[in-house]
Amino acid sequence: MPGSAVVELVGAGFAYEDGPPVLSGVDFAVPEGRALAVLGRNGSGKTTLLRLLSGGLRCGSGRLRVDGRDVAYDRKGLTRLRTTVQLVVQDPDDQLFAASVGQDVSFGPMNLGLPEDEVRARVRDALEALDIAALEDRPTHLLSYGQRKRAAIAGAVAMRPRVLILDEPTAGLDPHGQERLLAALDGLRAAGTTVVMATHDVDLALRWADDAAVLTPDGPRTGPVAELLADAGLLDAARLRRPWAMSVARLLRARGLLGEGEPAPCTPEELDAWAAARGVRG
Ligand SMILES: Nc1ncnc2c1ncn2[C@@H]1O[C@H](COP(=O)(O)OP(=O)(O)O)[C@@H](O)[C@H]1O
Ligand SMILES: [Mg+2]
Repeated sequence: MPGSAVVELVGAGFAYEDGPPVLSGVDFAVPEGRALAVLGRNGSGKTTLLRLLSGGLRCGSGRLRVDGRDVAYDRKGLTRLRTTVQLVVQDPDDQLFAASVGQDVSFGPMNLGLPEDEVRARVRDALEALDIAALEDRPTHLLSYGQRKRAAIAGAVAMRPRVLILDEPTAGLDPHGQERLLAALDGLRAAGTTVVMATHDVDLALRWADDAAVLTPDGPRTGPVAELLADAGLLDAARLRRPWAMSVARLLRARGLLGEGEPAPCTPEELDAWAAARGVRG
């Protein structure tokens, strides 16, 4: 059912050994079919939250649920979780370990005990989705950073998860690499995958996400991304900056150049195209 929670934390609390609580009493749901940005400054708990959602860490208190049912942390429960939710960690070198791209991407599906044909089909589809089919036989240590990022994501995609969770996927990418990655994510979303992305880049969240979860010291605030990012008090509490695109839109509206309901340009390229279409000169 679109919009219902695929995976959710209920009353979740977590602290690292000997550390203060990172999360306490957190309710956090990932609705099916939405693009969700988890926003917070460094150290706000983004990675911890993503690892709790994907089962890599276990809540100290509270529960993790898939389709409304508590996850059992036994072999069967964790397999069910792994085929529903896949996390791609921030550093691809923490994820890639096989000699070649194809071997790495095939590891997860092979471990599920799928027939060879099915594994091959999944690897091919995942490599195509990330636009790296030509790299299948390439040794992973010879890849560029952007290629390693895409190979790591392909490994998660080959598990055909309903929810793909990416920890700061654009960190370290150049602008072209970022655009290629966003295009690949658009393709996965169009094919029905729910995508969750942690980032501290408010402008990226504004242009990419439907919903946002802003991590504040009082816990996450969730809602439509444009609404949350227009809330200056919330951004201050989370110690995030204002999105540049929102300031531009506010200025254009105040000058009567942009109608109230008209979509605002979210990138410099969109602003240029918007200006060119209206004959506005800088
Ligand atoms: N392995 C760990 N052991 C102890 N403390 C950790 C560990 N990982 C993260 N932390 C602490 O937990 C808090 C949240 O970190 P993290 O979830 O990595 O935030 P973010 O991803 O938003 O930067 C920080 O205070 C961080 O120092
Ligand atoms: Mg992090």
